[in-house]
Amino acid sequence: MITVLGATGNTGGKIAELLLAAGESVRAVGRSAERLEPLRAAGAELAVGDVGDAEFLTEAFRGADAVYTLLHTAPDVEDFHAEQDRKGEAIVEAIRRAGVRHVVSLSSVGAERPSGTGFITSLHTQERRLRELENTSVLLLRPGAFFENFHAVLGLIKEAGVNADSVAPEAKIPMIAARDIAEVAADALRKRDWTGVVVRELLGERDLSYLEATRILGEAIGLPQLPYVPMPASEMVGTLRQAGFSANSARLHVEMTAAFSDGTVAATGERTAANSTPTRFEDFVPELARAYRQL
Ligand SMILES: NC(=O)c1ccc[n+]([C@@H]2O[C@H](COP(=O)([O-])OP(=O)(O)OC[C@H]3O[C@@H](n4cnc5c(N)ncnc54)[C@H](OP(=O)(O)O)[C@@H]3O)[C@@H](O)[C@H]2O)c1
Repeated sequence: MITVLGATGNTGGKIAELLLAAGESVRAVGRSAERLEPLRAAGAELAVGDVGDAEFLTEAFRGADAVYTLLHTAPDVEDFHAEQDRKGEAIVEAIRRAGVRHVVSLSSVGAERPSGTGFITSLHTQERRLRELENTSVLLLRPGAFFENFHAVLGLIKEAGVNADSVAPEAKIPMIAARDIAEVAADALRKRDWTGVVVRELLGERDLSYLEATRILGEAIGLPQLPYVPMPASEMVGTLRQAGFSANSARLHVEMTAAFSDGTVAATGERTAANSTPTRFEDFVPELARAYRQL
């Protein structure tokens, strides 16, 4: 049995599908039985509840040979890191109580840094908690920025004809498709062939700047001249506040994008075949183009 958190999300959903397709028994965790229904229909057992609830999670992890964990982001909460701490502590407590031997945990590039990385700082803290587990082997996956993040700017592009964020236009950033993370995670969850704590960076097919990504996206949606507009921090905070971010989360977004822009958040080593993954942004943009047409 393999338990998968965030089973309706970008990575967890694909991991659950890959594991089921490989004939594994899967327990899929989420807050809504309705949203999890396609996985139940495909053969998964469901565990419906909140990851902040350690007792619920202990039951969801009980009997599992391996679990996939992540810290779901909730950008509307008043104190982002406090909320991530609450969920992170519950996850680690449940792993301990259920006696899980192998954990694959979603982290991020930059998680080696204890501060100055915005949202990513809570993943540094979670890595530290997971490292303290005595009888559990932990694989910490540190991917770059998800291609899926561009879904969030499609509305702005439709309305204003621009892409905008607080990332520096020319900064080269490792960007990756969630499906590539899922392939690596599902393989590790099945094989369970490592011991102790292992860190694995996943950098996507190549580093991409927002300028280049915006050009590729623009071409795919029929706007080849789509501009990328870098937003000053104060303007970005205002835009995110309007989109429902708390003041704290908006500030953390700006801190994170500044850290990507100046290279504070970056791969710790050279790009190699082992830390690169196959899906190119060009392969992914048709998904964005379909979503754009449906707006
Ligand atoms: N985006 C990036 O560029 C990036 C880069 C590196 C690392 N990361 C990490 O990736 C994480 C997100 O991973 P993802 O994109 O795979 O997840 P996701 O798509 O954001 O969603 C995860 C799923 O978790 C469920 N969920 C949310 N809150 C929950 C709660 N309190 N209890 C139980 N289930 C809950 C939600 O499903 P229901 O609503 O159905 O419950 C959601 O579909 C981030 O938190 C970040 O730590 C992201």
